[in-house]
Amino acid sequence: MDHQSITSAYQRYAPFYDLLFGGVFEPGRRRLIQALDCRDGNSVLEVGVGTGLSLPHYPRHTRVTGVDLSPHMLERAQARVRRHGLDNVSLLAMDAQSLSFPDASFDKVAALYVASVVPDPAAMMRELRRVCRPGGQVLVVNHFSRGYGLGHTLERGLAPFARALGFRPLFPLAPFVANAGMELADTHPVNLFGYWTLVRFIKPGPMGTLA
Ligand SMILES: C[S@@+](CC[C@H](N)C(=O)[O-])C[C@H]1O[C@@H](n2cnc3c(N)ncnc32)[C@H](O)[C@@H]1O
Repeated sequence: MDHQSITSAYQRYAPFYDLLFGGVFEPGRRRLIQALDCRDGNSVLEVGVGTGLSLPHYPRHTRVTGVDLSPHMLERAQARVRRHGLDNVSLLAMDAQSLSFPDASFDKVAALYVASVVPDPAAMMRELRRVCRPGGQVLVVNHFSRGYGLGHTLERGLAPFARALGFRPLFPLAPFVANAGMELADTHPVNLFGYWTLVRFIKPGPMGTLA
């Protein structure tokens, strides 16, 4: 995966993205936002926000910043923000692996279906950790390869087409967690057949507290 292949793939996906991935990924989006447990005035960063399907689900008292690499996906997110009158949401074009926010800018950080898309998932996780405030949470939903069964056969078959598909079909959980540089709090299966996983990390705080 590289920036050029990602922006090309998501330029192709943008007009059909909601139709293809709106419904099938929806339970994971709702589950992650529920797990964020947003309190009054909390600030949330969502990276790889895409067409903004998650945005109407955040409580209006939460300030949400959504970033994405693809201008075509962001354009659709912007239209959704206008349509729903989401004045708690700001959108920016930005690389999740190199964020322009100062350290500890957000109470909570979310990454929905983007970890297996970015060229360097460990670099993305370093950035998410950096911009999350101490004691805050970083929540990720993604598919993770199991290494067995029909799903694995399919993932192996699709692996050579990662650039065209716009995501890495083979994406095991263990190295992702090992390289995240944060304590793994818990995992929950989400979506159809529990094939995707909600992964919750906690950035160590002064007293080990949650944001
Ligand atoms: C599979 S889509 C997920 C969209 C959305 N989060 C959802 O719930 O459907 C992946 C998104 O990540 C974006 N993306 C890929 N690499 C990125 C990067 N390095 N920085 C920011 N966004 C990126 C893509 O442009 C695309 O919009």
